[in-house]
Amino acid sequence: MNCSYYAHDLDGEASTQEGGHGDADKEVSYAGYLQLGKLLDCQKPRESTAHDELLFIIVHQVYELWFKEIIHELDSVMEIFETLDMEGRKMLVLSSRLNRILKIQNLLRDQVVIMETMTPMDFMKFRDHLVPASGFHSLQFRLIENKLGIKKDQRSKCKSQEYRSQFDSGDRKILKQSEEETSLLQRVQEWLERTPGLEIFWKKYKESIQDMLDAMEAEAKTLEEVNKQKNHFETILCEEKHNQRIARGERRFSHKAIQGALMIFFYRDEPGFSLPFQILQLLMDIDSLLLKWRYDHSMMAQRMIGSKVGTMGSSGYQYLKSTVSDRYKVFVDLFNLSNFFIPLDRIPELSSSIKEGLDPALLMNGNLNKDNSTLRSVNDKEDHVTSSDCQG
Ligand code: HEM
Repeated sequence: MNCSYYAHDLDGEASTQEGGHGDADKEVSYAGYLQLGKLLDCQKPRESTAHDELLFIIVHQVYELWFKEIIHELDSVMEIFETLDMEGRKMLVLSSRLNRILKIQNLLRDQVVIMETMTPMDFMKFRDHLVPASGFHSLQFRLIENKLGIKKDQRSKCKSQEYRSQFDSGDRKILKQSEEETSLLQRVQEWLERTPGLEIFWKKYKESIQDMLDAMEAEAKTLEEVNKQKNHFETILCEEKHNQRIARGERRFSHKAIQGALMIFFYRDEPGFSLPFQILQLLMDIDSLLLKWRYDHSMMAQRMIGSKVGTMGSSGYQYLKSTVSDRYKVFVDLFNLSNFFIPLDRIPELSSSIKEGLDPALLMNGNLNKDNSTLRSVNDKEDHVTSSDCQG
């Protein structure tokens, strides 16, 4: 684009509508398209003698713009998940969008470093003018959290109140609605529950665990050791015990979704499982980067204000530190999945019918129905697992 547009009018309107430059006038201008007039008129420092206030405003504004883009990507990602099976093309789009969110998050972490070029003394020059405004009130940040699946009751309390009370009634409505909408966590859960071949996999997985425990006993391990392992695996084999952990907030995914995730982790080298595995990795990366940002931001706050209260009146650094926690990890079950790994040589062989059904070449040739009925019929032929795995 021609940068000389800048010279005339930052909104690019006068020259295109009134300038009389022939056909060229009808062309879109750089400044007009980007609405630079409006955009660059939005930085209004409140303390004219504070040099760094412009930086403070711009950094926050840039965050909000990227939050907008993240929400845009998250909405599309959730829409794709809604109907996703193991179909390759959709998964590629999904993984590229998740990857884009990740790249933006990296950029957001880098911005903390830019903010830290401001010294605490320079911040003091204008901080008082900000009270009671705070990043705590970022509606878009809260929407991202809710869309990802952070639950209201898992949040740290701020000033002994729930976060929504800090917003005006219009925003409170928007936030409540976003809490009630289906989150990314739920969409991923439903997708994992649809993993083909789950029933037979779970039956074989349980058999492998039993074999492993028998071998431990045979190797003359102490009864205590064997029972410890048994109790450990029971928390995943027994649906009731798993659900108790969900109720305590220790786990988030349904029992069936955990099975799907384990299956994808175990068979990640199979062509049909490698993209789903990448997607699970990306989800963990997104979770991880959000938590790293929380940590970086809390350190920055401590550097700027020590242990003073925040501008909206929270305990400041103490409050922020409390959010760097597993309670804020949406896909915590994926992080903890390795608790239920078994030795590689005990991982059950994937049945050939499932392998074939998952071959991307077959998927692309349309041999797999859109609704995955080929794979379902494979499952239907397998034994139905009915035995109870809950003891005591
Ligand atoms: C000098 C720089 C900054 C300081 C000292 C600072 C400090 C704080 C403090 C103390 C809080 C707790 C709430 C309160 O009492 O105000 C907070 C919350 C928050 N700030 Fe900042 N902040 C800074 C920059 C930023 C930037 C650049 C962003 C980007 C949008 C941001 C986003 C947030 C968010 C989203 C929260 C809510 C976190 C949560 O509740 O989990 N902050 N900040």
